[in-house]
Amino acid sequence: MEFDESALISKTSEAFDFWFSDVGQYGELKHNHGYNSKGYFLFTHILPKLAIPSNGHVMQMGSNFCVSFDILYRMFGDRAIGVDLWNPLEHPKVIEKNIYDLHDINLSFCHIDAGDFKWTPNLRLYSIHYALRNTLKGGIIITAGGNYVNECLQVNLNEMFLKNDYTIKSCKDYTDKTVLDEIGVQHEIIAIKN
Ligand SMILES: C[S@@+](CC[C@H](N)C(=O)[O-])C[C@H]1O[C@@H](n2cnc3c(N)ncnc32)[C@H](O)[C@@H]1O
Repeated sequence: MEFDESALISKTSEAFDFWFSDVGQYGELKHNHGYNSKGYFLFTHILPKLAIPSNGHVMQMGSNFCVSFDILYRMFGDRAIGVDLWNPLEHPKVIEKNIYDLHDINLSFCHIDAGDFKWTPNLRLYSIHYALRNTLKGGIIITAGGNYVNECLQVNLNEMFLKNDYTIKSCKDYTDKTVLDEIGVQHEIIAIKN
């Protein structure tokens, strides 16, 4: 199935259906936003083990139904910011904004999950550049990585993070949970700003 990226990254009813109406679906149109998602796994099992600097905001780009974002909020309170085109459940710390319209702010943590590396690679790459630019020393970025993601984005993400003075870790450095393979978190890049 093919989609035009520009149709998926603006606030239209078609884009809403694409990102929010797939609950219960499987296969390539199922997005990552439930209790069996990467975000939920990362925030439950990895985030508590990360040394997040005490200043700066903690952001999730692409908060969707806030299943994972609410974990971030419960850990960091008012420092947490979720960004999405929609906030259907009215989470108090989500701003409804297009990632392309975000102003620069200091970040100590950023989970990049706006759009999808397959369907919206330009948005994903823009989000990564935003996070690279705004993350404070010691701050941490988590984003999907691995060969398939590199192909979709047409860049080598590991090289990009290393060139921007980040140390790269993976989930295995923090947990040996066996659910990793099923939900695809084994390729997530956990990048720490030196
Ligand atoms: C894969 S879902 C995020 C899942 C969520 N992080 C979780 O763990 O449940 C991707 C989200 O990106 C949002 N999105 C798509 N284009 C966007 C844009 N241009 N700006 C902000 N959010 C966008 C969609 O509305 C969707 O909710």
